[in-house]
Amino acid sequence: MLPNLSKRTYGLLAILLAVIVALVISLPMIYSGRDHHSDHETGNNRTIASANLQTWWHTTGEINTNAPVADGNVRQSHLYNIQVALANSSDDFYDSFVYETIPRNGNGNIQIPGNLSSVCTRSSGCDPDDQITIEPDIGVDMAWTQFLYDSDVVVRISRTDGGSVAPNNVIIRPTTLEVQRDHKHHALLLTVPYSEHGQRFSVEFQDNLWEYRNAGPGLESHYVQNRNPDGLHYVSSYNDSMPVVGREPLNALLIFASPFPASEYVPDEAADTYHVDPGLVTGLDQVSQSVVYFGPGVYWFTGSAHAVLSESVTWVYLAPGAYVKGAIEYHSPSLDLRATGFGVLSGEQYVYQANTVNGYMNNKSDTTSLKMWHGYSANGTQWTVHGVTMNAPPFNSMGLVGDLHSFSVQASDYKQVGAFFGQTDGLQMYPDSHVRDVFYHVGDDCIKTYYSNVQAERMTVWKTSNAPIVQFGWYARNLSNVTVDSVDVIHTRYISQSAAYPRALVASATNYRVEDSTVGADVSKHLSDFTISNWRAEGISPALLGINPLQNIDTMKFEDIWIEELAPHTTLVDTSTFTVFTDGVRDNEQIALGENSPDNLGLVIENFYVGDEHITLDGDNWDSFSLGRLGISGSYQDRWTAI
Ligand SMILES: *[C@@H]1O[C@H](CO)[C@@H](O)[C@H](O)[C@H]1NC(C)=O
Ligand SMILES: *[C@@H]1O[C@H](CO)[C@@H](O)[C@H](O)[C@H]1NC(C)=O
Ligand SMILES: *[C@@H]1O[C@H](CO)[C@@H](O)[C@H](O)[C@H]1NC(C)=O
Ligand SMILES: *[C@@H]1O[C@H](CO)[C@@H](O)[C@H](O)[C@H]1NC(C)=O
Ligand SMILES: *[C@@H]1O[C@H](CO)[C@@H](O)[C@H](O)[C@H]1NC(C)=O
Ligand SMILES: *[C@@H]1O[C@H](CO)[C@@H](O)[C@H](O)[C@H]1NC(C)=O
Ligand SMILES: *[C@@H]1O[C@H](CO)[C@@H](O)[C@H](O)[C@H]1NC(C)=O
Ligand SMILES: *[C@@H]1O[C@H](CO)[C@@H](O)[C@H](O)[C@H]1NC(C)=O
Repeated sequence: MLPNLSKRTYGLLAILLAVIVALVISLPMIYSGRDHHSDHETGNNRTIASANLQTWWHTTGEINTNAPVADGNVRQSHLYNIQVALANSSDDFYDSFVYETIPRNGNGNIQIPGNLSSVCTRSSGCDPDDQITIEPDIGVDMAWTQFLYDSDVVVRISRTDGGSVAPNNVIIRPTTLEVQRDHKHHALLLTVPYSEHGQRFSVEFQDNLWEYRNAGPGLESHYVQNRNPDGLHYVSSYNDSMPVVGREPLNALLIFASPFPASEYVPDEAADTYHVDPGLVTGLDQVSQSVVYFGPGVYWFTGSAHAVLSESVTWVYLAPGAYVKGAIEYHSPSLDLRATGFGVLSGEQYVYQANTVNGYMNNKSDTTSLKMWHGYSANGTQWTVHGVTMNAPPFNSMGLVGDLHSFSVQASDYKQVGAFFGQTDGLQMYPDSHVRDVFYHVGDDCIKTYYSNVQAERMTVWKTSNAPIVQFGWYARNLSNVTVDSVDVIHTRYISQSAAYPRALVASATNYRVEDSTVGADVSKHLSDFTISNWRAEGISPALLGINPLQNIDTMKFEDIWIEELAPHTTLVDTSTFTVFTDGVRDNEQIALGENSPDNLGLVIENFYVGDEHITLDGDNWDSFSLGRLGISGSYQDRWTAI
């Protein structure tokens, strides 16, 4: 017997039941994020292109947190909406598209581009270690927005997950950036000061942090996670042998505010320009013009092709609102090559280590795996790169062939994001290069100081698990006049130390050729006038240095370096090392200086702080057992100083 209720009540109950059933059916879809709407819940795509402020939008935004997006779509943040207003008219907000990248671009760990069932396994001739492990299982991603401004702006950020936007729930990194905070109508308001160098910073909601932990001591440790029982390296609870090795927002959000570009960075559209049609791009090797111009829109090359430019092309321009899924390869003998504009160059359609002579399959080759920037250098070429955001590199981001000792890089206002794969380096800095105002999300060697007369400055670095931040090893080199100044390291996470390829702020790996020859150090070579200055390492940081000297170190100076907190000791990433090799073989005993080993160590460490403490030789707080953890011992003690 049914209870005695009115027909209207039964009707309402039926509707309620239907709603519940509908919700239950759609729940898995909501949670898997498989929702391919192109319009954002609150984003209304009102943009501006004035002389004071420029924002842009993609009408084919796709919110999708776990699968590749359609060719013509742009992955849009599932969590953040952003509007920007000039500070002097701060009620007049304009939408700024928020991009997003997920680890492996939703492809999974695959071998064949576009084939989601081609799982990378050793038996299929593929190395499954792409250095992404727990990240997809715990829901890591990276979002960013980019706009142009000429005076202070207010950036309005709202969250679609209903999380707190109260200013006290937010940390801006670098923490030294003076950004005024407020909140209003469920949005965070950040007043971002104008800078002629632009601003590149991370907005971090404190309820959205993830603490990376490792599985315990030893060189081959791995991350563990307690969030996803079906995921990799799950543990139901952490214990004392699993220390915190890194802290990051799960859903990163970066803001790139850039000054309007100088005329040298914008080609004259009327002159000798090839305008690419949005959509699938082919035939750039047949172009007869000198400028290849990507206007606003979405372009793709597929996961098994890239932009091989004809010999006439010297300049690739990515306009604001251009989103190009591809990689660039120059063939011009011109001495003036450029890549400019505030568009995005994205490697998201490629598999890891896509090998261009092997069907773009995942198959590592230092020479033929795809680099996002590639080309042939004539004698004396200068490459200018400005404004571009480079997303999701599948491998080392840059590699040139030809006359590299005269290829100089002029990089400014350059951003690298979504570098979740392991072997994702920073830019090459060939001789006479000047690299400045850069944001690097980077898995491998970050600031590569392999050549002389190089200056790098104003770099913001977000470092993941492999390699040091400054790398100067791999080969014995003559190196002089290198400066890396004003670096803000906003995150690092290292699982454990590596003996031959040390992880530190500044390090040199052992000789790359060690395995197939007996080449070790070369005592005829010298490193001199090498300066690392004005560094801040926020949060958990690796040791100051990890040096396997492959040449004499005549003068190397560290000046004004601050580390907030060293990594846990069980990782050994906290301890600086200086280890001499003879005949290419690592000597664990740190042998005395020998016939085949460098005999100089002109190392000066000045104003080095860990936390609040000044680390000096006299202060007796420098050795491996003290706060500074400068593990330089034995016969070297009279050859270096810390003041
Ligand atoms: C805003 O979105 C609508 C609908 O998708 C589209 O027609 C319009 O062109 C968009 N405007 C901008 C500025 O992107
Ligand atoms: C995708 O990869 C799987 C596994 O390697 C293979 O069996 C299948 O034939 C591939 N599909 C295509 C369309 O290439
Ligand atoms: C990997 O690529 C190289 C060329 O770089 C090729 O010789 C080799 O056969 C490829 N390996 C597999 C498993 O396809
Ligand atoms: C706001 O500042 C810009 C300079 O960036 C100026 O051109 C504009 O006139 C100002 N607007 C108001 C309302 O003061
Ligand atoms: C921590 O847990 C792991 C297993 O998850 C275990 O192997 C290890 O011995 C534990 N360590 C301590 C100190 O309890
Ligand atoms: C490159 O050009 C310089 C002069 O600009 C010349 O001294 C040098 O020999 C050239 N190198 C090569 C390999 O042609
Ligand atoms: C040192 O390198 C910088 C940056 O390339 C350059 O401007 C400067 O002239 C070099 N100094 C010397 C002495 O070569
Ligand atoms: C390295 O520099 C030294 C002087 O510091 C010079 O004698 C030597 O020839 C150089 N070696 C090479 C390979 O350039």
